[in-house]
Amino acid sequence: MPIAVVSAMDEEIQLYLDTCTVEQTDEVAGFTVYTARYGGHDVRLVKCGVGKTHAAMCTQILIDRYDASPVVCTGTAGAAALDLDIGDIVVARDCVHHDVDVRFLGIPRGQIPFTDLRFFETDPDLRAQAREVALADHTVRVGRVMTGDAFVQDAAYLETLRDELEGDCVEMEGAAVGQVCALNDVPYLVVRAISDRADGSSEIDFQEFLHDAARSSAQIVLHLLDAIDDIDAIDNMDDV
Ligand code: ADE
Repeated sequence: MPIAVVSAMDEEIQLYLDTCTVEQTDEVAGFTVYTARYGGHDVRLVKCGVGKTHAAMCTQILIDRYDASPVVCTGTAGAAALDLDIGDIVVARDCVHHDVDVRFLGIPRGQIPFTDLRFFETDPDLRAQAREVALADHTVRVGRVMTGDAFVQDAAYLETLRDELEGDCVEMEGAAVGQVCALNDVPYLVVRAISDRADGSSEIDFQEFLHDAARSSAQIVLHLLDAIDDIDAIDNMDDV
């Protein structure tokens, strides 16, 4: 089955396109889906655009039309954990929608009302392997990714999210990919490089560090693809 790589922005997907051999290009519902080879792998690359609707649509298209499995979502994120620095890597243990908020009914933040869906766990083998291949000069955290349809630039909101969800970073696609994958029983992973502090200094940090951060997360995913042939070999690896 092809491995799908989904990124929100041109800067990110271009790094994959520069490295993979593109064999076919399709236009589907406004997305450009690249069929490509990387090493021995059959991959599908898509710039999904920013936000949860794009990410969800794109993931469902990749599953339905391209039989993709797993789906790997990559790119940048704002730090939520106080001990994360710009350039650090977060490999998602799980993802949650921070902007799903029906607390007035007593439902905890992130829980999709009237379901048991809240934290979307990533594939244990993929995340263990991503942690192993993470770049030598980067700090890697296996942690919780918090997703919402807003670029977070607010220290008070970030503190609320830390309290209620205990998340490590904020971004705008991961939980949407995770929810679609969970509902389709397809494994997924999210790898994010920290581009800003999500606390009001974000805009400057984000512009300044976007390219480096995108490059770091793409490099990890490419190393992951290099290593993925050995996926059976890590079955005995301790879960992370
Ligand atoms: N992606 C990178 N930084 C972000 C932030 N502060 N909020 C949401 N998504 C982001």
